[in-house]
Amino acid sequence: MTWLAATFGTPAYVIDEAEVRRNCRAYRAALPEAEISYASKALLTRGVATWMRAEGLGLDVCSAGEVAVARRAGVAGERITLHGNAKTPEDLKAAVAGQVGRVVVDSFDEIDQLAGVARARQQVLVRVTPGIDAHTHRAVTTGVEDQKFGFSLASGAAAEAVRRVLAQPALDLVGLHCHLGSQITRVACFEEATRRMVGLLARIRDEHGRTPPVLNLGGGHAAEGFDLTAFANRVRVALAYECDRHRLPVPRLAIEPGRALVARAGVTLYRVVTVKRLPHHIYVAVDGGMSDNPRPALYGARYTATMIGRTTSAPTTGMTIAGRHCEAGDLLATDVPLPTDVHAGDLLAMPGTGAYHHSMASNYNLVCRPPLVAVADGEPRVLIRRETEDDLFARDVGA
Ligand code: LLP
Repeated sequence: MTWLAATFGTPAYVIDEAEVRRNCRAYRAALPEAEISYASKALLTRGVATWMRAEGLGLDVCSAGEVAVARRAGVAGERITLHGNAKTPEDLKAAVAGQVGRVVVDSFDEIDQLAGVARARQQVLVRVTPGIDAHTHRAVTTGVEDQKFGFSLASGAAAEAVRRVLAQPALDLVGLHCHLGSQITRVACFEEATRRMVGLLARIRDEHGRTPPVLNLGGGHAAEGFDLTAFANRVRVALAYECDRHRLPVPRLAIEPGRALVARAGVTLYRVVTVKRLPHHIYVAVDGGMSDNPRPALYGARYTATMIGRTTSAPTTGMTIAGRHCEAGDLLATDVPLPTDVHAGDLLAMPGTGAYHHSMASNYNLVCRPPLVAVADGEPRVLIRRETEDDLFARDVGA
């Protein structure tokens, strides 16, 4: 790790390619019958998309930019699914131009808008809010009623969306979709979602005389504490049971994990810039912060870190790792046991930073964004280079 910091500077995101690939294989082994797509919002670069493609996963995207990177990485259009509650005309056009296989429609407006731009018959899934609270952070709870995503199951909006899709000759209804939230550990939420979604499939069959062939249960699997084997077994049983009960053919299961594939494969390297020893707290300030990791400020996410690069016999005590930005709330982690002799110039490694870090980074305070370095077989490869001041001026074009 120290050599990575010496070679690429700090802060730097490092991602273990082998671990990402292992995670993909674990998913494929646990659910060989399912379509597995990687939710690329968690971390998307051409390199990462290439790994996913090589591991046989599809890609979930939610903007024209993500479509572009996926296509540039050689992901076949038919393996791409476009999401989003407010897909812009540009997003929809990019999907059509990129021959994106499936679009998950999220609003009545979008059904008309997509039908208007579709060239060939476009496969769609209807995004359903099944009314399930997965009890995660409010900002990422998406399965409950009265929110911006999807069509409510309980109100009948989902059934109406199905009617409107079927009425559009340009659209081909291939399935239903739901996504309950993020960081979910309880498999029971997915069983309940399966039960409710199969109920809707049965109502579609009763009303329209046909059943769409795909059931997509979204992502949201926690990076830690999510039992993949239990998920696979229990969802499979629930699906078979519910379909049997409704006399329905078993739909093809689709899932789209993001974080679970990449979070733990990532680590961020920081250099300590200052250490402030106050009566009640020791603030260890590093050369990054909320611009490379907004998650503590946004969701109260908790992290830890270890000092690397030198050994010490000093005892450890709980310290606060502060970011460099001009906000008192820019704290990356609290109560982190670090040696009492920690000083400016020391290196810290913060694990578990592979998901929603690089992808959510900003250049707040015009701090240049860190590089993303992949390590495979002990060899580093830069996937994203460090942002430079030239990059800033490439966009700041008016004087
Ligand atoms: N499918 C859909 C439709 C989604 O909206 C998401 C995530 C996923 C799949 C993948 O969820 P995952 O398996 O990664 O939990 N920025 C937040 C997470 C936002 C997730 C948004 N949607 C964070 O840093 O925790």
